[in-house]
Amino acid sequence: MSKPQPDPKVAAARLKKLSRLRPTLAIVLGSGFHHVLSELRVNAEVSYAKLPGFPPTGVSGHAGQLFIGHLGGTPVMVLSGRAHYYEGHPMTQVTFAVRALAAYGIRDLLLTNAAGGLNRSFHPGDFMMLTDHINLMGVNPLRGAPVPGLPRFVDLTCAYDKGLRSLLQAAGRACGTKLRVGTYLAVSGPSYETPAEIRAFARFGADAVGMSTVPETIVARQCGLKVAAVSCITNLAAGRSGKALSHAEVLETAERVKKLAAQVLKNFAKLYAQNQ
Ligand code: HPA
Repeated sequence: MSKPQPDPKVAAARLKKLSRLRPTLAIVLGSGFHHVLSELRVNAEVSYAKLPGFPPTGVSGHAGQLFIGHLGGTPVMVLSGRAHYYEGHPMTQVTFAVRALAAYGIRDLLLTNAAGGLNRSFHPGDFMMLTDHINLMGVNPLRGAPVPGLPRFVDLTCAYDKGLRSLLQAAGRACGTKLRVGTYLAVSGPSYETPAEIRAFARFGADAVGMSTVPETIVARQCGLKVAAVSCITNLAAGRSGKALSHAEVLETAERVKKLAAQVLKNFAKLYAQNQ
């Protein structure tokens, strides 16, 4: 007998008790984007450990903490820390928070991550807005029993919402930066890729490679959430720079551009409210 799965509605009910604010926008922070917390006017916060079904996090270096507050004057929910598939969590756990957000009433989801750049015109420290993705994680988060009331076969023709994408680009322009655009390819990790893999991925049409985001996007689309996503290009992908890849480089670049990353997210939140 498999264990009964936690119910996202239970976690959502806990979240509703936290604060009377009812944001419709949620932002998931990946490496490089946590500095935005210094811009957040926090109304309530809770550790993932107190939210039934939420994943234990830690490997990424950011304890799982969920905030409700105002960013640039806009009510938002911010998730600091995510469960990665490479940590060994099942996909149901990696994507549980997204189901809880949908049950809570979140309508729009902004996902952020760190990624390696394949596109030859990208530089470490650039930001890339996702226009599409390629799932090479070897699993699909919707595999398993169908979820009653939700589509079994989810359309991903326009996984990243055009309206939210325009806002994200405008948010970049408002802080004087032109976001790159491209296709994000997801691998399971945690090893980085080989140069041969990177050459193959470039032929597939990938512009950046990373180890997250895609499962959350797929589940969010099943739940009917609109999704936007942005990568911080923290390094050139394997074989593209002539030097070895390291997590230290990822963290160094993320640190260098953290203020810009925070401004992009803050501007996005402001523009989001103006367009409701
Ligand atoms: N590959 C995979 N994931 C990553 C990378 C990379 O080069 N950089 C940051 N996350």
